[in-house]
Amino acid sequence: MNNPCPTPITLRDNNQMDPLLSWRKEFPILEKSIYMISHSLGAMPRGVRHGLDEYATMWETRGIRAWEEGWWEMPISVGDLIGKIIGAGPGEISMQQNVSVSQWIVLSCFDFANAGKRNKIVSESMNFPTNLYNYHGLQGARLVTVPSEDGMTIPLDRMLEAIDEETALVSASHVLFRSSFLQDLAAITKRAHEVGALVCADLYQSAGTVPVNVRELGVDFAMGGSVKWLCGGPGNGYLYVRRDLWPTLKPRVTGWSAHARPFAFEDGPIEYADNAYRFQHGTPNVPAMFAGIPGYKIIAEAGVENIRAKSQRQTERLIALADEAGMTVRSPRDPNQRGGVVVIDVENGYEVVKELAKRDILMDYRPGAGIRIAPHFYTKDEELEETIQAIKAMSLQAA
Ligand SMILES: Cc1ncc(COP(=O)(O)O)c(C=O)c1O
Repeated sequence: MNNPCPTPITLRDNNQMDPLLSWRKEFPILEKSIYMISHSLGAMPRGVRHGLDEYATMWETRGIRAWEEGWWEMPISVGDLIGKIIGAGPGEISMQQNVSVSQWIVLSCFDFANAGKRNKIVSESMNFPTNLYNYHGLQGARLVTVPSEDGMTIPLDRMLEAIDEETALVSASHVLFRSSFLQDLAAITKRAHEVGALVCADLYQSAGTVPVNVRELGVDFAMGGSVKWLCGGPGNGYLYVRRDLWPTLKPRVTGWSAHARPFAFEDGPIEYADNAYRFQHGTPNVPAMFAGIPGYKIIAEAGVENIRAKSQRQTERLIALADEAGMTVRSPRDPNQRGGVVVIDVENGYEVVKELAKRDILMDYRPGAGIRIAPHFYTKDEELEETIQAIKAMSLQAA
């Protein structure tokens, strides 16, 4: 007779059923560490070494010809690889150095000082500091930040209420860096467009771990970087701008690469390119882009839907383990409101993280939040248990 009780699924079974684990061999650091810090610095794909070698070989052997043999196109051709991950169309993303630069470019398209009453920027109080610093410093702009009531989430109704006819720009992080709270970008965009405001989304903590489609969402600007979930390393920010807005936008943060004929080096005011080069400025960061390509290809091939399903399962498990260990969880418990990180608060969190790094268990600590733990598509289930056990043991030791 068949056993009516299903066999309990063991960790081993789960790992065997997890096709994403086949990517582990592409990330050398996973052989030597428990890598729970992809929200901060995604593991380096093996292919990066080859990419940087290709860059060096081109420079070494092709010299100046490298520009016309690919380098000049890279801010857009590499942007296309990210476009596949976040739902942008071909040619719609330009590579930038980082989010801060992308913010300057976007903000420089607005003239807040002469905007009359429509000079308001609405954002969540828990937006990433770089974004808020820039809004605070903007001449003529009125910044309204929507507070968090629990230090973890931003009430959607408050966010929607704050967006009115005086709003020029709504800036929202898709996933909050401090707590991993996932904001409803579709609802925010809908409201903003109803009142004639534009939306700038920071996708840094979602792209690569939470499915995003900028075109379906209808956001006007979207930006992020590659250091985290995209495993693309530093120097690879990206900026998406809704195509139909291009002709209306004249960024004051600009440079010769944004000109319609950059190599004519014409005098006088700039005539902007009619494509995404319009949002460029100076010489692009070529080596960084070579380093970014392997990560983008892997994430696209692994599939963000698959990554998300695994992330929801593993973050759920982490929360259960933290609860069992009596730790305070500071991330949303609803998996649909949570990005890829679980934040837990323990005594001496900072010291715990420092000590565990010496033992090759890698996480980070943020004041006012706690220890941020981020499994990614390459994480094994048993690493979740090992992480929580190690934190518990170290926290007791440090007390
Ligand atoms: C949501 C978010 N935005 C922006 C940044 C970083 O900005 P930048 O690319 O300018 O360093 C981070 C992380 O460091 C982040 O988590």
